[in-house]
Amino acid sequence: MIHLKDKTFETFIRKEEISNKIDDLTSAINADFKGQEVIFIAILNGSFMFAADLMKKINLDCEISFIKVSSYVGTSSTGRVDEIIGLNTSIANKNVVIIEDIVDTGITMDKVISLLGNEKPLSLKICTLLYKEEAFKGKNVPHYVGFNIHNKFVVGYGLDYDEKGRNLNEIYQLKEN
Ligand code: IMP
Ligand code: MG
Repeated sequence: MIHLKDKTFETFIRKEEISNKIDDLTSAINADFKGQEVIFIAILNGSFMFAADLMKKINLDCEISFIKVSSYVGTSSTGRVDEIIGLNTSIANKNVVIIEDIVDTGITMDKVISLLGNEKPLSLKICTLLYKEEAFKGKNVPHYVGFNIHNKFVVGYGLDYDEKGRNLNEIYQLKEN
């Protein structure tokens, strides 16, 4: 159990499970894009750790770029999405795989997809470590999903609770009182 600010969290997904899942995801991506070029676009801040571990197992001709958006304050989505850091590479006519830590309502991903879609990529796929399918009300269902999880707040492995907990190397879930 760990404490972050006023909340208590318990271990949810251990590092071995995360690592095994990354092996599965990268096997699928490496196979799907064999012989092709891919631009990975990781969404900061939450995906930094997942993106780093994922990229180490990608054996394709590839590039990685980062964009930053924000839709969260505390433990509930505000529905607001602000693009903070834009794309600095051309994705026109390129295969693009978006790397995200978690798809919750899907609002962030819909915004990202609509922005990137304007750049006319050849293909556009979503790879997310976590997917809260129960909370999802978006238009863009993720193609590569690590773990489909219940609609409970999680932290660690890049994910934060009010900016705390991103450094944890396992994923923790909010403990109900
Ligand atoms: P969405 O727009 O509702 O899909 O939310 C996406 C963003 O909200 C993610 O990129 C996360 O930054 C954040 N988020 C959603 N659920 C959680 C959670 O359980 N823990 C930490 N951050 C979350
Ligand atoms: Mg995020």
